[in-house]
Amino acid sequence: MKFKRERKQGSVKVSDLLIAWFEEHHRDLPWRRDYSPYQIWIAEMMLQQTQVKTVLPYYHRWMKRFPDIQSVALASAEELLKYWEGLGYYLRVRNIHETAKILVDRYSCELPPDYSQIRALPGIGAYTAGAIMSLAYNESVPAVDGNVKRVFSRFFNITADINSSANLKFLWSKANELMPAGRAREFNQALMELGALICVPKNPACTVCPVVNQCESFKLDVVDARPVRRPGKKITPIEVSLGVLVNQGKVFIQRRPENGLMGGLWEFPGGKIEVGEKPEDALLREFSEELGIEVNCAYKIAMIRHSYTTFRVTLHAFLCRPQDPAQEPQLRAAVKCRWVTIQQLEQLAFPAANRKLIQMLQKRKFKERVAFNAQSAR
Ligand code: ADE
Repeated sequence: MKFKRERKQGSVKVSDLLIAWFEEHHRDLPWRRDYSPYQIWIAEMMLQQTQVKTVLPYYHRWMKRFPDIQSVALASAEELLKYWEGLGYYLRVRNIHETAKILVDRYSCELPPDYSQIRALPGIGAYTAGAIMSLAYNESVPAVDGNVKRVFSRFFNITADINSSANLKFLWSKANELMPAGRAREFNQALMELGALICVPKNPACTVCPVVNQCESFKLDVVDARPVRRPGKKITPIEVSLGVLVNQGKVFIQRRPENGLMGGLWEFPGGKIEVGEKPEDALLREFSEELGIEVNCAYKIAMIRHSYTTFRVTLHAFLCRPQDPAQEPQLRAAVKCRWVTIQQLEQLAFPAANRKLIQMLQKRKFKERVAFNAQSAR
């Protein structure tokens, strides 16, 4: 078979070239200092679907507040969520909490150095288990993430859909085959790092790649055409109305159910605008349907654009007042609610678009209007 032979450049193995390159060029990342299993686990959870530069400030704040597994297990879900606010894919932080409690109860506060046991923990898939086993324990387990998939698709000139199950099997077996004995930590990171720094999606720096001489797609001049992917999911535009309901100097917020998109986060009430509906009308309808109250829209605060997963959201935010200030909202979709001051919004975790809105509310003009029950907007 074409790739069965050991890949060598002269007499030097590909893995040696990659490791030598990694040792010289790797980024100084905080989880690469002492490779503590706890730090590797948290870093890998944060790095799922998220870039290193986005993760870094979150990682530093997290480690300052939660220096070990026990501190995570003892924290409230609400506090953990606040430390995750803005990173997205909030199920990850709930899984971290669950895992920390399991580690305290069953594994003497440690990540077990055993692939099957790690793989069975909440939120840990094959890649994350491989990364923990290899980076923290230097065990010879492959870790094929998005970067490694791209590197291999070019190196082996893979023309099949990169994410097909047959191809994924092939990639994992190649990673296993190339793995040098006793160097899993450096080898897996060298592949990830090559994908992050050299073999990048656009304009890869092939001239300085340590394994360019064996790269099949470079030889054939098809690097830019790899990886091959099935067309992705379509982007769906949605329009949403959202209300900052003000009463007696406080604003109304509600909490999303634990299980589901952005589970456990706080939000302002509102919902999707139906076809042909005006944003204000959608909001009055949502308040009536979801909270059983009638409100007046005082004025539009902002229009915010935001993207998540495959959605492009346009959010119309209004300042609202209850028609009957004595009537309490009844929760029909949310699980909890509170009336809070604008300052208190700071302490709770909100989805990114709500957070943008809060930043606007913190401007003096809005603070004053909320304090005066938005009377000034009449
Ligand atoms: N992406 C995923 N895991 C990573 C790691 N450990 N270091 C750098 N980038 C990564």
